[in-house]
Amino acid sequence: MSEPVANQDIETLFSEQRRYPPPPEFTKQANAQPEVYGKGLEEFWREEGEQRVTWSRPFDKVYEWEPPYAKWYIGGKLNVCYNCVDRHVEAGNGDKVAFYWEGEPSEERRPLSFAELQSQVVRFANGLKKLGVKKGTPVGIYMGMVPELPVAMLACTRLGAPHTVVFGGFSADSLSGRMTDMGCEVLITQNEGWRRGSRVPLKKTCDEAMAQAPSIKACVVYRRTDGEVNMEAGRDVWWDELLQDTSDDPNSCPCEEMDSEDLLYLLYTSGTTAKPKGIVHTTAGYLVGVATTHHYIFDVKPDSVYWCAADVGWVTGHSYIVYGPLCNGTTGILYEGTPDYPDKDRWWSIIERYKVDILYTAPTAIRSHMKWGPEHARKHDLSSLRVLGSVGEPINPEAWVWYHENIGGGRCPVVDTWWQTETGMILITPLPGVTTLKPGSATQAFPTVDAAVYNEHGEAVPHGGGGYLVIRQPWPAMLRGIHRDHERYVQTYWSKYKDTYLVGDGARVDEDGDFWLLGRIDDVMNVSGHRISTIEVESALVDHPKVAEAAVCGRNDPATGQAIVAYVTLKGGDEGSPEMLSELRTHVGQRIGKFAAPANVVFTPELPKTRSGKIMRRLLRDVAENRALGDTTTLADPTVVDELSRRGREEAAKGDA
Ligand code: WTA
Repeated sequence: MSEPVANQDIETLFSEQRRYPPPPEFTKQANAQPEVYGKGLEEFWREEGEQRVTWSRPFDKVYEWEPPYAKWYIGGKLNVCYNCVDRHVEAGNGDKVAFYWEGEPSEERRPLSFAELQSQVVRFANGLKKLGVKKGTPVGIYMGMVPELPVAMLACTRLGAPHTVVFGGFSADSLSGRMTDMGCEVLITQNEGWRRGSRVPLKKTCDEAMAQAPSIKACVVYRRTDGEVNMEAGRDVWWDELLQDTSDDPNSCPCEEMDSEDLLYLLYTSGTTAKPKGIVHTTAGYLVGVATTHHYIFDVKPDSVYWCAADVGWVTGHSYIVYGPLCNGTTGILYEGTPDYPDKDRWWSIIERYKVDILYTAPTAIRSHMKWGPEHARKHDLSSLRVLGSVGEPINPEAWVWYHENIGGGRCPVVDTWWQTETGMILITPLPGVTTLKPGSATQAFPTVDAAVYNEHGEAVPHGGGGYLVIRQPWPAMLRGIHRDHERYVQTYWSKYKDTYLVGDGARVDEDGDFWLLGRIDDVMNVSGHRISTIEVESALVDHPKVAEAAVCGRNDPATGQAIVAYVTLKGGDEGSPEMLSELRTHVGQRIGKFAAPANVVFTPELPKTRSGKIMRRLLRDVAENRALGDTTTLADPTVVDELSRRGREEAAKGDA
């Protein structure tokens, strides 16, 4: 592991003196009052568990903790789809909008009420039953941001079928790897998606993936565009054809009663090896955790129009577009496309049209808007906004303040929420009516969350210190392991400190006890909020027939947070060329997904290695960021570094991105 924190970043953050106390009129009406911090772990989550969800059998015990596994709401029975859909209709809220959907082509939009959502979910669940899906059948989902995506997820949960959603930007290889690891029997997709005005060939990618994923017996294809796709008889079926003659009567497909600890979904995420980890989330603790945090942190009201602008394919979309908000009966926005299509004011026009009061997005998006300029937001009335949120990477104070002023009109609290795929729910965050905000700080642990910063010896560092972020008590939405890999689960999260969850991020606590997140401590990069491991990209590169060796690292990037730099040695001593560079980018795009393609490629005859043959990654990072080079005496060939620095500088000078 490399050193957790880059000192120059800390210094800048710590000199950040701006303070934003909660506006008194906000505090008066806030869902979260200071008392929420006063409750104990068991008391707090017992109360939330009782009021946030509807049980078909109440739980006997709040939690059990046998490190490294926790169980929550033991003995309870419930169904996620019932909680997210049916009970709202039964309560007379069937006409309330569940999602306002905006297609990317701008004339396309439709609202979907909770009653309509229910009827679509029931019909689709009945369709899935025809394909043999039942309690326990693993289902893969590979779609864009269409209402049918949450419909498919909810239909799975209705039947008790665990799902894995794969982000629509992943390649066929990544998709098939996930399908095979989970043993998915059915894959749900669409013929094509829309992105920045062009068509994304989702079904075609599925065809390539299915060729390598023999567990898949059936593929359901939603018709999003008029594009023709290959349909294999006996395997592929159109969504609308599958739904012919299916009933939308909820009684025709009752919600399966599930145990609190039944598997809800797997979501694959990057770690420090090339193989993504299938993060396990179960039913009750997850649902209570996401609904509770959603309620308090975003200050959601019954008439809120809430917009989390993430993609459902990532954990943010699972927890804070689908499960948390729907469990709370919240009206949400679902937008299919990019922020700049057809123009750079698309987001702001959506906020104005639906009078959005809560916006939740990522620093990388905020920085794009910043770069495009505030004039696009000024064209629209954003006065409906009350709360702004940020997630996915550390937000730099400059972007925070820009967001607060230009989007929030200086009046909306900005909640910088820290969490991970593994944590399932937000763990470190301000509460908008309680916390004094500091740009760049995620501030405080959510009530009952026992977060700390440890030094190498497992001691909490004093205020002002930095080290490894850890969580010392269980929380309801925490991962229940890595799919079929107990060893890796223990090794990754529980081996550095006893019975303590190692997050993998560096952090500092300031004099007030506020947390400042400082990025990953391992070889995981964070590019535009996408987690990618250096080794995944390296494996993809060396898999190219002309590549002999490759080493990859992240460098700071003003727009995307981090950008990927690849050092590549070609076979036969070949020199690199611009053609080779674009070939390698395309290759990584095919192996993982376009978002993982390196921004820079430095061709080098040799990689810097220690005498034992280990690539010196810290050195590569230093070179990539044009830092003064550290000690190179352990290098087998010290001249390699000079050569690398020279090439790195040349590459940077070309302004290649
Ligand atoms: C980073 C996304 C600083 C962090 C929900 C974490 C953050 C990783 C923040 C998880 C934040 C997320 N401030 N860093 N507010 N939110 N991160 O699994 O490094 O895609 O470990 O989950 O993103 O990424 P993941």
